[in-house]
Parts: sequence; structure tokens; C-alpha cells
Amino acid sequence: MELTQKKEQFVNKIKTLYPNNFGEVLKNIENPKPVTFRINTLLFPAKDTVEKTQQILDTLTSLGFEIEQGPLINSYIVKTSPSNLRLSETKAFETGQIYIQNLSSMLPVEALGPKPTDKVLDLCAAPGSKTLQIAQATQNLAQITAVENNRNRFFALQKNLESHGAKNFTLLMENAQYLTNRHPDFIESFDKVLVDAPCSNEGQVVLNDIKSLARWNPKTPKHLAKLQKKLIAEGAKLLKKDGTLVYSTCTFSKEENEDVVSWVLTKFPNLKLIEQSRVLPNNNFTGFFLAKLVKSA
Ligand SMILES: C[S@@+](CC[C@H](N)C(=O)[O-])C[C@H]1O[C@@H](n2cnc3c(N)ncnc32)[C@H](O)[C@@H]1O
Repeated sequence: MELTQKKEQFVNKIKTLYPNNFGEVLKNIENPKPVTFRINTLLFPAKDTVEKTQQILDTLTSLGFEIEQGPLINSYIVKTSPSNLRLSETKAFETGQIYIQNLSSMLPVEALGPKPTDKVLDLCAAPGSKTLQIAQATQNLAQITAVENNRNRFFALQKNLESHGAKNFTLLMENAQYLTNRHPDFIESFDKVLVDAPCSNEGQVVLNDIKSLARWNPKTPKHLAKLQKKLIAEGAKLLKKDGTLVYSTCTFSKEENEDVVSWVLTKFPNLKLIEQSRVLPNNNFTGFFLAKLVKSA
């Protein structure tokens, strides 16, 4: 399919999904979002956080970056960059002091609320942005099990976690659909489960950059929904009673979002939906979806 045809179909899909406010949604996906990042506090002692954070921000400012505090914990927005340097080319990035991550992608771990005493399962982990956030939120105290089935992505995950100072994690290069079969001892053993599912990435589409639609295919959501249901079901089985599961995607398709959540609620009557939200794109956030579920005791 031609890219122009894809763009037309994509716009029509947004119009169908958001009949009352599609104009605003479309306007907000015309252009790329600003670069956003977190300060990686895993590389220095907790008592130095304020001082180190200020040092890192001052260094970036002295290089010509104009940075604003973001709306989420420890989030920062690059308002302007110097003409000759990208944030990803700075020493702060190369040494792992900052972690570039879009704001919407920071939301699932906020919703999950991992605690230092938790056993946490990150079911679809590479490249590890959220695994690192979990490690950071719990001062490296939570016991994290991170699963990734793609070999190259698995090694990227491992490198990312190690170079950013994460500790107390176990990595499994396995298909997360079969964890309960392979590890029966994992059943109902995790306080927190994150299912940041592979998805059709519609939230990453930038309408003024038609190439961003190259991999978009209107048929993908239906296929992915089957995998997403298997992954969330596996997560539900691995979740402890009273535990919290967060399901997230960076896509607009209902099949991959609300339909997956409704399905798991029918299959697991002991799961209760605490919150479900579509993050609409705006100046800083990309389109995103997340649902928080709790397993009753
Ligand atoms: C949306 S990405 C995860 C992003 C990651 N949570 C982060 O924040 O950096 C989904 C990941 O799930 C992996 N994946 C897809 N199918 C899987 C499966 N059956 N078992 C384990 N991982 C899988 C993909 O290779 C991909 O790395």
C-alpha cells in the first residue's frame, strides 16, 4: 500500500475512534514531540540526588540545552537544543546519567507503584526503559524478573540495565507466553506485574513525517491482539493475590487496548479493573493506553 493511502486510512481510523475530537487528536500527531528524559539516580547514592541532578542539568544548560521540568516525577523536557549537538550525543547520555524516554512511556511504572519489598515481573522488557524505572523507583531493592524473547533485544536489555546501574534483577530470554509451564514456581508469586505489550505503535505516528507510517498496517492490531491476550493472561496467572498488574500499549487500536482488558476480565473473574485510560496526544505526550488491575485475595 502507498504511504499516502496509508495516511488516509490512518486518519480515517482516528476519526472513527474519536468522533467528537478527532481534529484535536490529528493536530496533536502532526509533529514530533520534544525530547524528554529522566535523571538516572541509580548511579549515585540517594543522599546526593538533589545535588547530582542539579549538576547534570547545569552541565546540559551550559552546553546550550534549554530544559524544563516535566509533569511526571523526575521527568525533563528539552525545549531547545543547540544546533550542533543532540541530547543523545552528550556525555550525560553516554555515561548513563540521563535516560531518554518519552513521557507516555513513563506512565505505566507510575501506575504500577513498585515498592522496595516487591517481587516485580516485567514481562516484555527490552530495551528496559521501564525495568530501569522500576529499579530506580525502589532504589534497586525490588527483586525484578525481566523477560524478553528476542535475542538481540535481550542483550540490549542486559547491557542497558548493567550500564545504568540496575541491580537485583534476573533476566530470562524466554517466550513470556509459556512462563507458567516452564516455571510453575512463578505462579501467583509476583506482587507487581507489568505487561508492556508489543503493539502496533500507532502512538508513534507523526502525520507530517509520512515515513513514520511505513510499518503501519491496518491488519496488524487483530493479529497482535491474540498475542497480547496470551501475554496478559500469563501475567494474570503469575500475579499474587492482592497484587497489581499494569497493561500498557503505545497504540490507538481498541482491539489492542480496551478489548484485551475486557477479555482478561472475563477470563479471570478475580481480577478487578482499578483504572483504564487512553492518554491522548498533546504537546508533550504521545498516544498511549494503560490499564491497572488488581487480583482479589
Ligand atoms: C513495547 S516493547 C517493550 C518496551 C519495554 N517495556 C521498555 O519500556 O523498554 C515489547 C517487547 O516485548 C517483546 N516481546 C514480544 N513478544 C514477546 C514474548 N512472547 N515474550 C517475551 N517478550 C516478547 C518484544 O521483543 C519487545 O522487546
